[in-house]
Amino acid sequence: MEKVLTKMVGIENSRNIDVYLKSGGYQALPKALKMTPDQLVGMMKDAGVRGRGGAGFPTGMKWSFLPKDNPNPRYLLCNADESEPGTCKDRVLMEEDPHQVIEGLAISSFAIQAHTCYIYIRGEYVNGAQVLNKAIQEAYDKGYLGKNILGSGFDLDITVHRGAGAYICGEETGLIESLEGKRGWPRIKPPFPAVYGVFGSPTIVNNVETLVTPVHIINRGIQWWKDNEPKLYCMSGHLNRPGVFEAKIGINLKDLIYGDDYSQGIAKGRKLKAVIPGGSSVPVLKADECDVAMDFDALAKAGSALGSAGCMVMDETTCMVNALWNLIKFYAHESCGQCTPCREGGHWMEMVLGRIETGRGRMEDLDLMLETANNIAGRTICPLGDALAWPIAGMPDKNKGGDLSGNSFVTKFRDEFEYHITNKKCKVTIPHEWN
Ligand SMILES: Cc1cc2nc3c(=O)[nH]c(=O)nc-3n(C[C@H](O)[C@H](O)[C@H](O)COP(=O)(O)O)c2cc1C
Ligand code: SF4
Repeated sequence: MEKVLTKMVGIENSRNIDVYLKSGGYQALPKALKMTPDQLVGMMKDAGVRGRGGAGFPTGMKWSFLPKDNPNPRYLLCNADESEPGTCKDRVLMEEDPHQVIEGLAISSFAIQAHTCYIYIRGEYVNGAQVLNKAIQEAYDKGYLGKNILGSGFDLDITVHRGAGAYICGEETGLIESLEGKRGWPRIKPPFPAVYGVFGSPTIVNNVETLVTPVHIINRGIQWWKDNEPKLYCMSGHLNRPGVFEAKIGINLKDLIYGDDYSQGIAKGRKLKAVIPGGSSVPVLKADECDVAMDFDALAKAGSALGSAGCMVMDETTCMVNALWNLIKFYAHESCGQCTPCREGGHWMEMVLGRIETGRGRMEDLDLMLETANNIAGRTICPLGDALAWPIAGMPDKNKGGDLSGNSFVTKFRDEFEYHITNKKCKVTIPHEWN
């Protein structure tokens, strides 16, 4: 498949503006500046772009929520916090092809009529921040940023803002608070950022990968995009070839795992046991559920989610009790503490899982976990509470009146949890190893 998003990866000096220009870069921006902002918003709607940051919200629709009568300046926030476990695709875009990101940000800023754009990048991405800052300076020097871009009359400044290592600052309103210099505490919505965002002004928050999409829709057309929509998938875990791969959206998960162009199968000739397809907050799929298209709708139908496309593959040596305990420790640790169900529930879940894993579990703990997860999901200020509950007990199910389906770790691998409780040891007999 032709590489579009990762075209520059592997090319010498791919971060240099002259190399980007030689490869056809900065051709979409002048075209965008000749369109109207409404035409650009319409283009994103017609192309059907959905956000790549986790929730899959339609991008054009989000942009159209900006109020027309608000006199305050508008802001574009590029969410480069990339903290969801298993997710590492935005890093590739920023570190290997920063000008593609900058071109996407300039087009998107023009589309929403923002003259200030912040890239909120996770603090650990030191290299990414340095690469972006250098590329931004090159773009100013060549007139792709700053005053009167390419003679269009449109002004734009981009600033890189480094986070300090909190997962919750990836949540859009936590990010806004953090950018304002406060603790990264998510806000109650509504009002949504499009109406009341950073500094109280209309604000659009989008993921890095989402914001590069208009470059390619403009260059290749809406129909091309619909027929070939490219997507980045982050493949990690027990694989022969882990890494970030570009494929058409909707590629079969099995092709990503076993395909020669992708992860080339399970390491050491072992058997596939389970996959978390969309970053650690989404429900797990068993090996026999992995014949599924990696897109928003197919994964939702399969009871999981595309999320941030952080696809974590586990082989037969994985202890599912230990794996879930590990995930829940992360969410409990990263809770910002504002809401009782998330702050308290996370640590209770961590404790219950810890006692099962270490041979002190009780059979009633399994239903207790499912019930507690149900009481956390949907009852918190931000979706971190859901991210904690869904791996335990699945996604909300319409047929159960919105309660969680139960289809995730605790139900799908109940035999392993019960074995741990009864036998005070792990059912997996092959030693755990991660090398
Ligand atoms: C706890 C939490 C962490 C998040 N972390 C990220 C992140 O690191 N990067 C990201 O793009 N979106 C993250 N999101 C989603 C954002 O809140 C927001 O939906 C997203 O940036 C919107 O961009 P999109 O429409 O392009 O997907 C997170 C959400 C939650 C609840
Ligand atoms: S759900 Fe958790 S992380 Fe989100 S606001 Fe509430 S306490 Fe904070």
